[in-house]
Amino acid sequence: MIDLHCHLLPGIDDGARNVEQAVTLARLAVEDGISHAVLTPHIHIGRYDNSLLSIHRAWKKYQALLVKHHIPLQVGYAAEVHFCAQILDWVPEQKLPLLGYWEGEGVLLLELPHSHIPVGVEELVCWLLKHRIRPMIAHPERNRDVIRDFDKVLPLAELGCLFQVTAGSVAGQFGEPARLRAIQLLQNKLVTVLATDAHHELRRPPNLSEGRRAAETLIGESASWDLVQNNPLRIASCHFPLKVVHPATET
Ligand SMILES: [Fe+2]
Repeated sequence: MIDLHCHLLPGIDDGARNVEQAVTLARLAVEDGISHAVLTPHIHIGRYDNSLLSIHRAWKKYQALLVKHHIPLQVGYAAEVHFCAQILDWVPEQKLPLLGYWEGEGVLLLELPHSHIPVGVEELVCWLLKHRIRPMIAHPERNRDVIRDFDKVLPLAELGCLFQVTAGSVAGQFGEPARLRAIQLLQNKLVTVLATDAHHELRRPPNLSEGRRAAETLIGESASWDLVQNNPLRIASCHFPLKVVHPATET
């Protein structure tokens, strides 16, 4: 499986606190069946002031760490970018780390505030699309506006946003309201990928398999694999130039 949203890089956001925890999280990801991950630390002005360059440097060190510890996890890097006006500057300056590409457009993992869908999001989405960047909205099922009213997500879908649902939400690990919204998103065919959003080995572990199995009961086996294997690979193949073998087809 391929995880497109996780916080495994040590010490640069609220994910892995140190090298030891970062190694533990990578081991757990591999044990769960994750072979490839795009590491997505927060870029959130004033809270996590990461940049393309700082994330690149952390990724290089992390790659070496995985080799040293013989952990067979292939990693690329991008970011989970919090909604802000500075995105309008970062695009022309080519400072936005991209998850990859979808139908020829760059894919940006965009984080909205958990509390609501802010005014201006639709305008930002239109502006990004005009600049050939497709926003992928991170965990809409956990947004409180969406939890109050599922229809709040529809304008973003109609504009062409992609949606990343957190695997743990489908499995019920973020509470019943988030699970119900995750199910609705799945049943409405609005989910592009499931991802772990892993932060911590106990509280938020890299667990993609349980969410996939829960999704399978709702949308069928083949569609569930699309969300953890085929769609993530379609987006992020630029990070992993070597062939990725589906476990079910491995000989
Ligand atoms: Fe995240």
